[in-house]
Amino acid sequence: MPLLPLAIGWGGVLLTVGCNSATKRKWLTTFFDGVPSEHPPTNVVTATAADTNLVAGAAQKPAPVAPSEPNYFGHQPFSQEKCSSCHDSQFGQGMKKPLPGLCWDCHKDFLASAKVKHQPAENGECASCHDPHQASNKELLRKTGKDLCLDCHEAPVDKGKSRHQPAENGECLTCHNPHASGQKGLLVKPDGKLCFDCHDTFEKQLQAAKAKHLPVENGECASCHRPHESDQKKLLAKPDGKLCAECHEDVQKQVAAAKVKHQPVENGECASCHKPHQSENKKLLTKAGDKLCYECHDQLQQQITKAAYKHDPAGNGDCLACHTAHQSSEPGLLLKDRRQVCFECHEEKDMLVVKGHTGAPQKPCIECHDPHAGGDRNLLKPDKPAN
Ligand code: HEC
Ligand code: HEC
Ligand code: HEC
Ligand code: HEC
Ligand code: HEC
Ligand code: HEC
Ligand code: HEC
Ligand code: HEC
Ligand code: HEC
Ligand code: HEC
Ligand code: HEC
Ligand code: HEC
Ligand code: HEC
Repeated sequence: MPLLPLAIGWGGVLLTVGCNSATKRKWLTTFFDGVPSEHPPTNVVTATAADTNLVAGAAQKPAPVAPSEPNYFGHQPFSQEKCSSCHDSQFGQGMKKPLPGLCWDCHKDFLASAKVKHQPAENGECASCHDPHQASNKELLRKTGKDLCLDCHEAPVDKGKSRHQPAENGECLTCHNPHASGQKGLLVKPDGKLCFDCHDTFEKQLQAAKAKHLPVENGECASCHRPHESDQKKLLAKPDGKLCAECHEDVQKQVAAAKVKHQPVENGECASCHKPHQSENKKLLTKAGDKLCYECHDQLQQQITKAAYKHDPAGNGDCLACHTAHQSSEPGLLLKDRRQVCFECHEEKDMLVVKGHTGAPQKPCIECHDPHAGGDRNLLKPDKPAN
């Protein structure tokens, strides 16, 4: 039997079924599979694939005309009744070629050169997303938004404590290409660039910043953030301390091995002192100098502020001249032992000649002196009156 009449015939039958394209599709499926759909149109219930006369009979009916629904989209070769450009004339609904090869007869093969291919597209299951004939959605899509994706994928946003707005809103296609891409995960752009599409103020801040965190500068946003949802705040992949330890294992190891540990560091509260992306201060610090330390050591701040005499480096906010920030082998997180730390700036030989030092040459200096501030110019502790 010639294909064209067959095709026109079907188009005619199509029109008799109704304007709704979904109904038409169902009906056609019913007919050719021989499996009645849930609510088959009464005039065709008994039709089976073997009913070839019915096809011939239908050929008398008028050619298909796109219904005047506002949401009707026809595939051009279908609307133009060029059924044989896709279908095998001998078997009617049989295909001329397997998909996706068939589609490349007219469309540019977008899979051939792509690095990453979406499995259903690669397997030629184009029809799982597109109706090859007609649809009530643009691009011949069977469904729109996330519904299209959720046919096969579990909802990427569910009960997470923080949810990414575009993913929650089902704007999957702002980040993913449905067919293929040069980026892993079918992303439309590389990680960092993708994020900056929407987080453009973030990009400006980053560009202007003095100190930048290398993975952020490199656009490796996904090394710390989940793209869809997370059980941590701000879509973070892991809680604070564990997040940083992913790459700064050395920091964690040093702290674990040290005799004296700074409590917030030990607790993994890295973010209390460091910014994750960029900063105006060196080493990504949240604040500079003593301001950082006084965030928590406010009592000491008051003590130093009130004191009549301040030890030069402590008064100047150079806390790290004597202390380490993370861990130490010395008590009080000192850089060196209690005496040596003073000799960083005061010559040992000079100290030997100080009158008050005679008789106690090896004593820790802080037995008599307050390292931060004091009531007299020699910073003597209250119970060590000047002799
Ligand atoms: C662009 C290619 C293309 C054109 C043109 C085309 N078809 Fe199809 N048709 C297909 C594909 C692909 C399928 C398989 C769909 C699936 O797997 O769900 C199909 C399936 C069918 C089926 C089986 C039922 C179904 O919907 O799954 C019928 C019947 C059919 N086509 C009739 C026609 C008629 C009649 C025309 C011309 C008016 C036509 N087709 C034009 C590609 C095409
Ligand atoms: C015989 C040629 C031909 C074949 C084969 C063909 N198409 Fe098309 N397709 C067209 C034409 C022509 C258009 C309209 C192009 C335009 O509007 O720019 C089109 C448009 C489309 C569109 C976009 C519709 C829109 O609204 O912009 C999709 C999606 C599509 N085709 C999918 C497919 C798939 C999937 C296959 C394989 C099953 C296929 N096509 C096979 C000719 C074909
Ligand atoms: C997972 C679902 C899915 C599969 C599978 C799929 N597509 Fe698409 N396709 C889409 C979506 C979604 C769009 C609309 C893209 C947009 O609006 O940015 C689209 C758009 C198109 C378009 C028109 C715009 C363009 O990108 O050129 C064509 C043509 C097309 N698809 C052909 C195909 C062919 C051929 C196959 C099989 C090899 C296929 N599609 C498989 C979802 C899919
Ligand atoms: C017809 C079923 C089907 C539909 C519909 C579908 N997918 Fe897929 N998708 C798959 C399969 C199968 C895989 C490969 C197995 C896997 O990774 O789970 C996959 C993989 C993916 C991957 C991982 C790719 C990679 O290389 O890492 C992404 C991202 C993806 N899909 C996004 C989407 C989006 C977005 C949509 C909606 C536009 C969608 N999918 C619709 C079946 C589907
Ligand atoms: C803000 C951008 C963005 C949005 C919106 C988005 N995704 Fe993703 N998605 C990603 C990124 C980034 C990855 C990780 C890619 C990689 O590294 O392999 C990913 C990975 C995936 C994967 C691969 C498996 C996995 O979970 O890691 C699937 C499937 C997926 N997305 C589906 C979806 C679906 C479905 C939607 C819509 C509901 C969606 N995505 C919305 C950015 C996004
Ligand atoms: C399509 C636009 C879009 C893209 C692309 C995008 N985002 Fe977002 N993102 C948003 C919106 C909208 C919000 C919610 C409003 C806000 O906080 O600015 C948001 C919020 C966030 C938040 C804060 C979440 C919270 O719980 O407060 C993080 C973190 C984030 N995005 C990271 C990323 C990363 C990483 C990428 C790249 C993988 C990315 N975004 C890509 C639009 C986008
Ligand atoms: C080293 C880990 C890390 C990397 C890499 C990273 N972030 Fe973040 N990001 C964080 C942390 C930690 C927070 C939470 C800060 C807080 O608690 O306020 C955050 C917060 C955010 C927020 C929410 C800001 C707010 O104030 O609500 C956005 C948006 C964001 N990041 C986007 C990005 C983008 C885009 C990239 C890639 C250019 C990126 N991040 C790379 C760790 C990272
Ligand atoms: C994806 C890997 C990665 C993660 C996760 C990560 N970092 Fe980094 N970080 C780096 C790299 C790479 C450098 C630069 C090389 C270096 O100095 O080791 C760096 C450097 C630093 C620096 C020194 C900056 C400078 O200017 O010298 C600090 C401070 C820092 N990171 C803190 C953190 C904190 C806090 C976290 C957790 C919020 C974190 N990092 C998470 C990779 C990471
Ligand atoms: C109490 C504040 C504080 C906390 C908490 C803290 N840091 Fe630091 N960190 C600092 C200071 C101050 C420096 C700069 C030290 C210097 O300049 O000598 C620094 C330096 C660094 C550096 C750069 C080291 C180098 O040699 O350049 C890294 C990496 C780092 N911290 C990671 C972390 C990580 C990971 C955590 C959480 C486990 C953490 N920090 C917690 C204050 C802190
Ligand atoms: C996020 C809060 C926080 C910040 C910021 C902070 N510390 Fe601490 N620090 C603590 C806590 C908590 C302890 C333990 C309890 C205590 O001794 O007060 C501690 C203890 C100390 C100790 C005594 C350690 C010991 O074992 O005797 C020193 C010294 C110290 N911090 C110095 C600093 C310096 C220097 C800075 C600035 C670089 C700083 N701290 C910033 C919270 C903080
Ligand atoms: C000249 C060296 C020196 C400087 C500069 C210095 N400290 Fe200390 N700090 C010490 C010594 C020595 C101790 C006593 C350590 C011990 O317990 O053995 C100490 C103890 C501390 C302690 C724990 C005991 C207490 O007094 O609360 C804190 C907290 C502390 N310093 C914070 C700071 C801060 C904040 C700054 C910057 C404003 C700073 N230090 C500057 C030498 C210094
Ligand atoms: C980072 C350098 C530095 C370190 C380390 C240091 N000092 Fe000082 N110290 C100074 C400076 C500068 C002065 C200001 C007086 C001057 O002109 O010598 C000073 C003054 C003093 C004074 C007051 C007497 C005077 O001449 O004004 C005493 C007492 C003192 N230091 C004791 C110590 C003790 C004890 C230690 C060890 C815990 C120590 N210093 C560590 C730099 C330092
Ligand atoms: C037994 C108590 C005691 C010990 C221990 C002690 N000092 Fe002193 N120091 C004093 C007294 C008392 C004075 C002031 C009297 C004087 O000028 O002789 C003084 C004065 C100073 C001065 C000011 C000297 C000047 O020229 O004005 C400095 C600096 C100083 N000490 C540093 C140190 C350092 C560093 C150590 C540890 C190596 C130390 N002291 C150990 C009691 C002590």
